[in-house]
Amino acid sequence: MGGALLLTLLLAAVPLSLGGGGGAHPGYSDDDESACTVDAGAELLRRMEERGPDRRIIDITHAVVPDLPAFATGAVAGPMLRLRESMADGSEYNLSELRMECHTGTHVDAPGHINQAHFAAGLDVDTLDLHVLNGPALLVDVPRNTNITAMEFLNIPRGVRRVLFRTLNTDRKLMWRKGGDMSYVGFTEDGAQWLVDNTDIKLVGVDGLSVASFDHLISAHVVFFKTPDIIPVESLNLDDIEAGIYMLHCLPLRLVGAEGAPTRCILIK
Ligand SMILES: *[C@@H]1O[C@H](CO)[C@@H](O)[C@H](O)[C@H]1NC(C)=O
Ligand SMILES: *[C@@H]1O[C@H](CO)[C@@H](O)[C@H](O)[C@H]1NC(C)=O
Repeated sequence: MGGALLLTLLLAAVPLSLGGGGGAHPGYSDDDESACTVDAGAELLRRMEERGPDRRIIDITHAVVPDLPAFATGAVAGPMLRLRESMADGSEYNLSELRMECHTGTHVDAPGHINQAHFAAGLDVDTLDLHVLNGPALLVDVPRNTNITAMEFLNIPRGVRRVLFRTLNTDRKLMWRKGGDMSYVGFTEDGAQWLVDNTDIKLVGVDGLSVASFDHLISAHVVFFKTPDIIPVESLNLDDIEAGIYMLHCLPLRLVGAEGAPTRCILIK
């Protein structure tokens, strides 16, 4: 069966099953028409499940563990989970609580991180555009002997909106090292300005602690956040992935009022 036909069936199933049965749960409806579309939907789901797990999914998120490097020389994130109720202590259930910096591990920055006007305007992580966070992306390797400066030679075409920059950080396994290392590679101020002026990139992914190199920590962020429409995604795990074109999906937590948030990011080949 063609993809277009499947889609038509799926779309047809939605309004009919909602409308059928006079408000009764569609699964229990006597309405013939509705039952028919529920069957078609079930058949479609069964076929989709039969295809098995999607083996094209690549996780590019670092696991949240106490050893994650933090943003200071030699610093680690430390314990983030605490078992508040424990079965070992006689509770009927285990229940953990989470306490972490919003910029720990794989995370996004919101415009208010460095720009007070954007923060005051309420541009928190909850306002980040899911259409920027999800879509086609280019994974590129940059030269290993420099921070990310103006990189015309990468020839990133206009219209490309999401680029993940793999750097020396991945080779040095900096995100796997116990303790932050401020010699990580990131954008310099002029590199950030080059990107803003010469590309259409709206999502900038990096494999280090920050999108900005330590010597340009504030100045490069200021350039990126001059307008609020660029989303930095930091501390990605780009180990052993071929450079190329992927579908990127990043789903940050909806932390209202926060200027950063942990995010799960995956690529689909
Ligand atoms: C609950 O937590 C305790 C203490 O960490 C652990 O030993 C136990 O396996 C946990 N039980 C369940 C059901 O997760
Ligand atoms: C990148 O810049 C940092 C300081 O911001 C520096 O320590 C590091 O050596 C630079 N890396 C390269 C490859 O030039």
